[in-house]
This record gives sequence, C-alpha cells and structure tokens, in this order.
Amino acid sequence: MSTTLFAPALGMGTFRLKDQLAYDSVAMALQAGYRHIDTAQIYGNEEQVGRALADSGIARSEIFLTTKVWLSNLSADRFIASVQESLQKLQTDQVDLLLIHWPDSSNKVAMQDYLAQLKQAKALGLTKAIGVSNFTIAQLQQAIEILGPGELVTNQVEVHPYLQNRKLLAYMQQQGVTPTAYMPLAVGKVFTDPVLQAVAARTGCSIAQVVLRWVLDQGMVTIPMSTQAKNLADNFGALSVTLAAEDKALIAGLDAGERIANPEFAPAWD
Ligand SMILES: NC(=O)c1ccc[n+]([C@@H]2O[C@H](COP(=O)([O-])OP(=O)(O)OC[C@H]3O[C@@H](n4cnc5c(N)ncnc54)[C@H](OP(=O)(O)O)[C@@H]3O)[C@@H](O)[C@H]2O)c1
Repeated sequence: MSTTLFAPALGMGTFRLKDQLAYDSVAMALQAGYRHIDTAQIYGNEEQVGRALADSGIARSEIFLTTKVWLSNLSADRFIASVQESLQKLQTDQVDLLLIHWPDSSNKVAMQDYLAQLKQAKALGLTKAIGVSNFTIAQLQQAIEILGPGELVTNQVEVHPYLQNRKLLAYMQQQGVTPTAYMPLAVGKVFTDPVLQAVAARTGCSIAQVVLRWVLDQGMVTIPMSTQAKNLADNFGALSVTLAAEDKALIAGLDAGERIANPEFAPAWD
C-alpha cells in the first residue's frame, strides 16, 4: 500500500463489542498482527480496548489508536473533558486520531465551535491527528474552510460494494483527505453475494479478502470488525492478495446506493 496513508491501512473496528467480547476481540486482533484499533465514546468499550492494549505488552508507539467524540460531548463545556475521560479509559496520554463521530445536524453546536474544540484537543496534545466521520461533501467543504487545508486527515464513512460513495470519495481525493471505509463487509452481506463468490474462487482467496482488497486498492484505510480469530486472520490476509482489473470492474458493478448506517440524526447524504 501507499506509504502516504495516515494509519496502517487495515485496522480493526469495535462497534457493538462490549465487555469481555471487546477485550477478547481486541486482544486476538493484536495477536493476529493488527496495529490499528478503532473505537468511539458511544461504543462503551474504551475501557476494555485500553485494557487489551495494556495487557498485550505491545508498545503504545506501535499501535494506531482512534476514538470519536459523541454528539452529546460537542459543546465547549464537555468536549475536552470527554476526551480526557476517553484517554483515561484507554490508558493513554494521547490517541493517534480523534474524530467528530457525526456532524451535528441539529446545529445545537455550530461546526465552527466544535471544530475549534477538536483543534484545541490537538493543540493540548490529547491527539496526534484530527478528522471527521459521516461528513457530506458540503460539510467537509465547510470544515476545510474553517480549519484550513491539510488539518483533517480523514473522513470515516460507510463504503462497501453496495455503497461505493464515489462522488464523496472523488471530492475527498481532490482535497487530500484520505477516506476510512467503515462497514467494509456490509455487516456480513458480502458473504452471500454470487459475484463476490465467483471472484473469490477465481482469485483463490476468501470473499472478505476480495472485498477488503478492493477497498484498499482505492487508497483507503479500512476497519473491518470481527470477534473470531479465524476471521480476523482472514481479513488481515487481504494485505497480500492481488485483484485482477476485470474483477474490480465486476465489483464496481455491485454499487446500489445501499446505506446501512442511517440514523435519524444523519445528514442529507450526497
Ligand atoms: N464512524 C461511524 O459512524 C461508524 C459506523 C459504523 C461502523 N464504524 C466502524 O467500522 C467498523 C466495521 O463496521 P461493522 O463492524 O459495523 O461491520 P463490518 O466490519 O462490515 O462487518 C462485521 C461483521 O462481519 C463478520 N465478519 C468479519 N470478518 C469476517 C470474515 N472474514 N468472514 C466471515 N464473517 C466476517 C463479523 O462477524 P464475526 O464477529 O463473527 O467475525 C461481523 O458480523 C465498526 O466496528 C466501527 O469501528 C464506524
């Protein structure tokens, strides 16, 4: 992969993982070779992620760790304190990446104000880098105007074969903001797809590897989630797979604008 990525290209997501399952899954991922872990305040597992990282014995400097600030913590009186609380749970002085989890579509807190807090978190050394998640083209444009070019390293958004998000990704590429693809396996939907089954058979690898390679080949970082050692290893194997151009074209044909993460507070998507 390109050496210009802001993080190890293949990380591990932790959405829905709670308690011992969160701890065990992160521990297994680290054992399988993952060095990039994605969590969030709202996942309720920062403590377990922090414990798994500490118990692994792997130096903190070898791990790329991301957390995300939840909507209820965007105001100036909560933002920094909430990040400090996250750091305490994660057993670290600094995350590698801090994201705004969702834009505040209600406009209770203006973008100008929560991005000022995000920038302040970086200035205080609470995070090395900053970014956003679930931002539309218009919102990203506004954010870049507020912060200036080069500040936001990523916009973490849903990307999988059924939601290829091409317009947004093209805009991000033009702005030098690297996408992080979330739900790359469409939360399991890819595993029953006959097109992907055929590509996997032809390539001599698993469906997960086909899909993750297809994501990585577009210059994105991605963070599939798994609770099983065999699936974590399977996904990690995507790093050593090569896809034929005609197979990538077949996958491109699966785009259906099918969005999975679409809560009531979501922005007006592109
Ligand atoms: N920023 C945001 O708003 C946002 C929103 C959603 C997600 N995310 C991030 O993106 C991460 C990934 O998304 P996701 O967890 O929703 O979905 P996903 O990674 O697309 O899919 C996870 C599902 O696929 C299964 N799976 C994983 N690898 C497999 C394999 N090799 N073979 C067979 N099954 C496999 C897992 O089951 P097993 O456990 O049985 O392997 C799990 O049910 C999240 O964990 C989170 O960190 C961010």
